[in-house]
Amino acid sequence: MESKEYGNGVDSWKEVNLIYHAALRQIETKMEILNDEFQHVHQYNPIEHIKSRMKTPESIVKKLRRHGYESTIDNMIEYVNDIAGIRIICSFTSDIYRIADMIREQKDIKVLAVKDYITYPKASGYKSYHMIVSIPVYLSDRIVDAKVEIQIRTVAMDFWASLEHKIHYKFEGDAPEHIQNELVECAKLVADLDGRMLALNEEILAIGQNNEERA
Ligand code: GTP
Ligand code: MG
Repeated sequence: MESKEYGNGVDSWKEVNLIYHAALRQIETKMEILNDEFQHVHQYNPIEHIKSRMKTPESIVKKLRRHGYESTIDNMIEYVNDIAGIRIICSFTSDIYRIADMIREQKDIKVLAVKDYITYPKASGYKSYHMIVSIPVYLSDRIVDAKVEIQIRTVAMDFWASLEHKIHYKFEGDAPEHIQNELVECAKLVADLDGRMLALNEEILAIGQNNEERA
């Protein structure tokens, strides 16, 4: 739903918070259900863990200001895509695409944008799969769509991103060159590790299947 439609009904920060928090919980529950069902069918959990967070009002206002927008409810809804954010941490890169496909197939979820920083990593070395989706939230007298930012990454990518974030914050985005270079090198190691762990897992799965076929 566009901001105009929201503009008719959503008029306070409290309401924005309530709606986006509801959207976040719905996505979180959907992910847990997918993980449980996957465990049931394949005896395997594609999701290691899930972290979700609501953006603080200060941080929303800061982002709007950074982009040159006034701090209005309409602008928050229109321009801030990560008021509600969920991070899905997987074991293997293949799980990331599997989860993304499962999200795409859910009829009540609208995928508004996708950024595949795994196929196309950032210059910093950052890797993750990002989706901006919207989901309907059923209120007592109306239905409103709310956006949720979904970040999907492996455990190793998450480890790298946490450290990089800390460094970025510490140096206010201007880390010494040797640190930036080292981070890029570490990102290559992460990609290599993810590839090797995936290959190892596939080999183990194939052995399991062969044993089952023989039995
Ligand atoms: P914002 O960074 O939120 O303003 O969004 P954007 O429009 O630039 O979108 P993008 O998909 O590039 O980034 C969204 C989010 O991904 C960020 O808020 C971070 O949480 C994460 N992210 C993006 N780039 C990096 C990076 O280089 N390092 C780390 N640690 N996280 C990143
Ligand atoms: Mg953000």
